[in-house]
Amino acid sequence: MTTRPSVVVILAAGEGKRMKSATPKVLHPVAGRTLLGHVIEAASTLEPHHLVVVVGHGRDAVCAHIEEVAPWAITVVQAEQNGTGHAVGIALADLAERGIPVVDGPVVVLTGDTPLLTGRTLVGLLLEHDSTSAKATVLTARLTDPSGYGRIVRGSDGFVTAIVEDKDVSDEQRTINEINSGMYAFDGARLADSLTRLDTDNAQGEEYLTDVIGLMRSSGDHVAASVCDDSDEILGVNDRVQLAQAAAILRDRINASWMRAGVSILDPASTWLDVDVELEPDVIIRPQVTLRGPTSVASGAIVGPGTTLVSCEVGAGAEVIHTWAELAVIGDGARVGPFTFLRPGTVLGQGTRAGAYVEIKNSTIGDFAKVPHLSYVGDAEVGTGTNIGAATIVVNYDGVAKHRTVVGDHVRIGSDTMLVAPVTVGDGAYTAAGSVITDDVPPGAMAVGRARQRNIDGWVQRRRPGSPAAEAAERAVQDSASDSPSQPA
Ligand code: UD1
Ligand code: CA
Repeated sequence: MTTRPSVVVILAAGEGKRMKSATPKVLHPVAGRTLLGHVIEAASTLEPHHLVVVVGHGRDAVCAHIEEVAPWAITVVQAEQNGTGHAVGIALADLAERGIPVVDGPVVVLTGDTPLLTGRTLVGLLLEHDSTSAKATVLTARLTDPSGYGRIVRGSDGFVTAIVEDKDVSDEQRTINEINSGMYAFDGARLADSLTRLDTDNAQGEEYLTDVIGLMRSSGDHVAASVCDDSDEILGVNDRVQLAQAAAILRDRINASWMRAGVSILDPASTWLDVDVELEPDVIIRPQVTLRGPTSVASGAIVGPGTTLVSCEVGAGAEVIHTWAELAVIGDGARVGPFTFLRPGTVLGQGTRAGAYVEIKNSTIGDFAKVPHLSYVGDAEVGTGTNIGAATIVVNYDGVAKHRTVVGDHVRIGSDTMLVAPVTVGDGAYTAAGSVITDDVPPGAMAVGRARQRNIDGWVQRRRPGSPAAEAAERAVQDSASDSPSQPA
């Protein structure tokens, strides 16, 4: 077990200009969690005594988000972004003002835009920090293309002597392929002391946190490096291209972990699972599936192809094909799709069917009931074993208010019925196809709500003479005359 950090400071005040977004960079989501949320999650595995997030650009939105995902975190405002060293300096000053000491365990500094960082790597950083008794340990990575990053300069003893920013490197330093991730563990007291000695004498005119390393070294402190073996983990998101790269890496990571847990994912490249999704063994995910929010899928269920489920619950052995569903519960063994739209509040019981071109909203469909074809069901309760005929519409909206419809158990709603709410159809009742049901139907009754048919013979030949329809009708009249039993066969 590593030492618990006294503080983790996450730097998230920057604007993220290259995102070209009205949303602050750290609030962009990947895999159902914001960039900052992923970093907070990794930091939380260290159980720091205090978590501080330095905010600046878009601070109202960022603070509101932190309040939601990590209400225990302390937010510190850096009004002007005068550099990473300045940001850490005001975080420590804020803690001092609150009477919080930073000497009880190391101070860990992270950046808010590295969603692939894991708690495991941070534990590795702290282990290295503990075992070398260094006053600072830098999380580094070796990259084939180190350009853009600060370079790690090591002395002959292997310890770090300096970090040189990309904009400030010499030609010789430019070829160093070990780079600064921007994440560190520090001795709190030594960090606080060094921060007071920073200047802005560099290419960007900012207080660089990286200069702390050189200052500590010249005061005789040891500075170590912890090399991260998976350089993906330190990938910082600066623009939408890197956002997509991070999302793809996270997708692969999440998919691999579910496949190892017994889930079949037929096409991992087109399967996007949020971090809060829960899947049981023997779930099968067909291609082009997106499961968002806290969606759960029970054993033996098959989802896809072409399905998006947002915060849904899918029961054991259910099958969901070409469906968009949100805040819906799909019961054990239910069959849904293709081309089904389940809106919030839909609860499909065990063994139910919600078929092709069916939309259901805020309704409960009882066990083994079926809505197989081309229907809209809204604000309704449908009983056990009931069949809703093709093209039935629940008319739940009178233009002003929504009303409820109740359909009992083992009802047979005829095809193309309009159920005009509020209305109740009793247990075991039938409705005739094409009925407009405006009054309650007693249990066991047959409700017929339509005009009786009348045929006007010869209307087409009289009113549409010479048309293909009239000619077809005429041929049929002649054929039936020649087919009449008075003629010999
Ligand atoms: C920084 C490091 C560099 C490292 C790289 C890794 C410094 C001087 N350089 O460079 O060695 O290779 O990260 O990605 O630290 N921030 C604030 N307040 C500020 C300035 C920055 O909160 O005043 C935040 C930013 O929002 C960002 C993080 O600190 O989350 C890093 O800042 P950025 O300007 O992106 O530093 P880099 O130039 O990438
Ligand atoms: Ca950066």
